[in-house]
Amino acid sequence: MSSVHRASEAEIGPLVALAHALGFSAYDRAALKATRDRPGGLLLSTGPESLLVAEVLAPEAELHLIGVAPAFRGRGLATSLLLACQFEARAQGAERLLLEVASRNTPALVLYQRQGFTVVGRRRGYYRDGDDALLMSLSLG
Ligand SMILES: CC(C)(COP(=O)(O)OP(=O)(O)OC[C@H]1O[C@@H](n2cnc3c(N)ncnc32)[C@H](O)[C@@H]1OP(=O)(O)O)[C@@H](O)C(=O)NCCC(=O)NCCS
Repeated sequence: MSSVHRASEAEIGPLVALAHALGFSAYDRAALKATRDRPGGLLLSTGPESLLVAEVLAPEAELHLIGVAPAFRGRGLATSLLLACQFEARAQGAERLLLEVASRNTPALVLYQRQGFTVVGRRRGYYRDGDDALLMSLSLG
């Protein structure tokens, strides 16, 4: 485990494995590499135990994925990743950070609310298990 940094190419493999272990199977090697290499793409990590995927398209930035391996949870890693994401997004001209979260995902909801995100919309029955998606926004101003 190290401090939050942009993932290197060598780190992509372990981060794909983490994404899959957490159930985010859409994030394959090509997708993470494309994010890393694209202007505005953010692939942040503290090592093989955590990842954050986001996209900055000023004036908005969007968080696509944040995940921490179960054994490393509750130590503030997601908080650090999200703060670094806010910093990067602001530096690239974004005024808002947006995300979508399942309404029953309590750990993620608490994480986002603690950082000041507010619910700005709801998509009913959006997820395959019938859960609603909450749209959340944080002003970076
Ligand atoms: C959501 C997730 C990223 C949080 O990671 P984490 O590193 O454990 O989070 P942190 O340690 O930074 O905790 C942040 C805050 O969230 C809250 N929190 C974390 N886990 C929680 C839980 N199980 N229940 C309630 N609150 C919780 C804590 O209150 C904490 O604030 P505090 O330290 O001030 O008390 C992690 O649980 C995870 O990877 N979940 C699976 C993937 C996922 O659902 N991602 C979100 C959708 S993309």
